[in-house]
Amino acid sequence: MSAAIETRELNVWFGKGRDRVDAVRDANLIVPQGTSHGIVGESGSGKSTILRALVGLVPTVSGEMIIEGTSVTTPRNGAFYKTVQMVFQDPYASLHPRHSVDQVLNETLKLHGFGDREDRVLQLLKDVGLGEAFRFRFPHQLSGGQRQRVAIARALAPQPDILLLDEPTSALDVSVQAEILNLLVDLRAERSLTYVMVSHDLAVVAHLCGEVSVMQNGVIVETLPVEKLRRLEADHDYTKHLLKASADTGHA
Ligand SMILES: Nc1ncnc2c1ncn2[C@@H]1O[C@H](COP(=O)(O)OP(=O)(O)OP(=O)(O)O)[C@@H](O)[C@H]1O
Ligand SMILES: [Mg+2]
Repeated sequence: MSAAIETRELNVWFGKGRDRVDAVRDANLIVPQGTSHGIVGESGSGKSTILRALVGLVPTVSGEMIIEGTSVTTPRNGAFYKTVQMVFQDPYASLHPRHSVDQVLNETLKLHGFGDREDRVLQLLKDVGLGEAFRFRFPHQLSGGQRQRVAIARALAPQPDILLLDEPTSALDVSVQAEILNLLVDLRAERSLTYVMVSHDLAVVAHLCGEVSVMQNGVIVETLPVEKLRRLEADHDYTKHLLKASADTGHA
């Protein structure tokens, strides 16, 4: 079976000439179907850029991106977004302030050609642990955690196989983070989803992911099974440094 996601020599850059920033360099990533892959690394190392490149949100890219055995085309077609969906860090920014939960979900379902939308909206709310009472609320009437549940429901609406999660809990209160992470764990188990999750929190990655790629300055310096992270074993100096920093702050 082909991998859910594969990148071959993926390069992403912004700007030209002296202003050029090489955000991702020669990234090779293989994420088997049904697994959860973490991406960690310091701020600016290119983690979000890899996810944004996969969904076609960055213009200047070279190399190959293969989803379920097929090279992606630019622009992405509708079928692509039935397979791959992304959840962003800040649910407030990613939800339209004047659209109710019902509108958000309905429009996504319509875009992807689904009928019986009322039933589906109610089911999606249930799937993410929100009751019917939330259906006609607007983003400002929701807590951060509830907003992120709506963003996750929207991502699930097209029934994707793959979710790309960019720090899905880092904008939330610590107490709410665990709830959302547990929801993500449950959803993945129920639907055999494939995740790629960016996080700067090694403990979160250790909890959710089977394999982790470590990025530094646009380069994947090491990919290792999460058991090695847990045992504080790493081959690359930079990963050791991350593990030490995390242990010092009590996060891993
Ligand atoms: N639209 C853009 N235009 C120019 N440079 C960009 C753009 N987006 C990202 N970059 C640059 O690309 C590099 C990688 O950025 P990226 O957002 O992928 O980092 P990150 O690892 O997700 O960091 P963080 O942990 O802070 O979210 C950074 O140097 C950033 O400044
Ligand atoms: Mg980022």
